[in-house]
Amino acid sequence: MEKAKTHCDAVVEQIRSLYVGDELLIEKILAAALANGHILFEDNPGLGKTLLAKTLAFSIGCNFSRVQCTPDLLPADILGTNIWRPKNGSFELLKGPVFTNILLVDEVNRSPPKTQSAVLEVMEERQVTIEGKTYECEEPFFVLATQNPIEYEGTYPLPEAQIDRFIMKLSTGYPRSLDEEKLIVKRRIEWKKDDPTRDLKPVVSGEDFRALQRMVENDIYIDDAVIKYIAEIVRKTREHPQVDVGSSPRGSLALLKASRAIALIRRRDFVTPDDIKTLAVDALAHRLILKVEDVMRQVDERKIVTKILDTVSVPKDYHPR
Ligand SMILES: Nc1ncnc2c1ncn2[C@@H]1O[C@H](COP(=O)(O)OP(=O)(O)OP(=O)(O)O)[C@@H](O)[C@H]1O
Ligand SMILES: [Mg+2]
Repeated sequence: MEKAKTHCDAVVEQIRSLYVGDELLIEKILAAALANGHILFEDNPGLGKTLLAKTLAFSIGCNFSRVQCTPDLLPADILGTNIWRPKNGSFELLKGPVFTNILLVDEVNRSPPKTQSAVLEVMEERQVTIEGKTYECEEPFFVLATQNPIEYEGTYPLPEAQIDRFIMKLSTGYPRSLDEEKLIVKRRIEWKKDDPTRDLKPVVSGEDFRALQRMVENDIYIDDAVIKYIAEIVRKTREHPQVDVGSSPRGSLALLKASRAIALIRRRDFVTPDDIKTLAVDALAHRLILKVEDVMRQVDERKIVTKILDTVSVPKDYHPR
């Protein structure tokens, strides 16, 4: 536990030294990574999405590759392709960027649907199929995808069904105060360059990061009462009058995994109902499909999940072990 704390703190600290903003957001990002979950960052241009994703990726001693999505990006550009080697008289796989630990898919909604579904398939299966042959993904493997809100021109919105594969959808938001706004400018003066992530060194080795992931999986206890709390919240999303399709059980599992990870980050070996409350909106809201009239009225799914949290009674007598 002591060691885990040092490692988690080091990553949070490194992200904080570049990204100006919500501490809780940084905890959530790390939680998703520890849970080996894919994260979707969605927000307006220029709000630090790429900065955050890159900082996380560079802070963990894992392999990392990046794909900048464009409308002409082909599935093979991400997965890889077989090329003919005349010398050997055979085809050889030229591995694409997907053969890595952390895949940063920048501006995912600028890539055409065929390429999106290639990525999303790998996300779920954790294996890559190229011309009929299947290859396992590396361990750990997770995707950090960024996108601008779907109203922007020249984009292909991710299908709802595929958005479900992200453990959380997070947004960075605008700086919260004049001081934060100033700090961003001041840091830029200090760095003397636009991309401060270039000089970053990992603060946790790949081996240690995998050990943390194993702790999340094996050593963090969740009491029956807290499991029931998750299940009740998820069920309520299906009963809500403004919701056409509520969260699938995958949403419950996302909450389970992320809450165990955040427990570890917060130096506990058990999940509390408060962990669930902290994560529920980011882990569930993107899975809801609203009724057509509510989509037209631009009802916010996040507010619906927040309201649901107010109606589900919080377990008081859960056991820490
Ligand atoms: N909260 C923040 N803290 C520190 N720097 C920030 C923050 N927000 C933006 N920046 C700086 O602003 C610039 C743009 O950020 P970034 O490229 O991460 O935006 P983005 O959200 O990925 O934008 P786009 O949607 O256009 O790709 C970077 O130089 C980044 O360092
Ligand atoms: Mg970006």
